[in-house]
Amino acid sequence: MSVVVITGANCGIGLALAEQFTKRGDDVIACVRSNSPELKATGAEIYDGIDLCDGEAIQGFCEKIAGRPIDILVNNASTYNDRNLVEDIDVDAVRKEFETNVLGPLQLTKGLLPEIVKGGKIVFISSSLGSIEENETGSSVGYRMSKSATNMLAKTLCNELWERFISTTTIHPGIVPTKMSEFSGIRLPEDAAKGVISRIDKLSLDTSGMFWHQDGRQILW
Ligand SMILES: NC(=O)c1ccc[n+]([C@@H]2O[C@H](COP(=O)([O-])OP(=O)(O)OC[C@H]3O[C@@H](n4cnc5c(N)ncnc54)[C@H](OP(=O)(O)O)[C@@H]3O)[C@@H](O)[C@H]2O)c1
Repeated sequence: MSVVVITGANCGIGLALAEQFTKRGDDVIACVRSNSPELKATGAEIYDGIDLCDGEAIQGFCEKIAGRPIDILVNNASTYNDRNLVEDIDVDAVRKEFETNVLGPLQLTKGLLPEIVKGGKIVFISSSLGSIEENETGSSVGYRMSKSATNMLAKTLCNELWERFISTTTIHPGIVPTKMSEFSGIRLPEDAAKGVISRIDKLSLDTSGMFWHQDGRQILW
């Protein structure tokens, strides 16, 4: 039985993760901006009203669960605001993407670090759009940059936390029909979550600091 903290667990892939972790007997602590009946139905312990752009809310959450050993932290919540070409980009939308996708998870991870156990795992749900090597098109530069920064955070944490026996990974869940993808996509959230959990289960210090597709393919940075 593991204690798993998941952000953005009220819907989409985060909800599917909460459902599958609770179903197999793990204790899920959901850190969400908004609650949902589906999340309540999982039996997860829910902390709502936590906006990742609100430093005080994040700090308040960390204080509330201080002293609880955490086995797995899944930084899943994210926003995708502007899909334009650079010439049409809304810089304020990009700023929001950085606050939500990078700075919020950074603060949350920092705040929860004292509670992450030896042998614990820190997971970032990233995107193949954050891969510089695999980028062959334009558009969505804010989201792309935020996910590249997420990847850098995971890799840096890997180096810093190795000696504390904590491993990190970034995982691309595939293209999944959720609010974020405007419900277009080929893989159901349940299937994506199954693959993500399989990657988390296989994560060890030996494979720490790598970028995976949930289907098991390694993605180039
Ligand atoms: N769907 C895809 O095709 C796809 C592809 C690649 C990567 N991903 C990644 O998969 C992860 C999950 O996304 P999803 O597809 O499941 O999307 P989703 O259903 O839209 O879920 C996004 C989650 O992030 C939360 N969130 C957004 N802004 C927030 C903020 N400022 N503070 C706190 N929470 C916030 C949302 O909360 P609210 O409900 O309150 O808005 C929601 O719980 C994300 O990291 C995403 O980048 C998804």
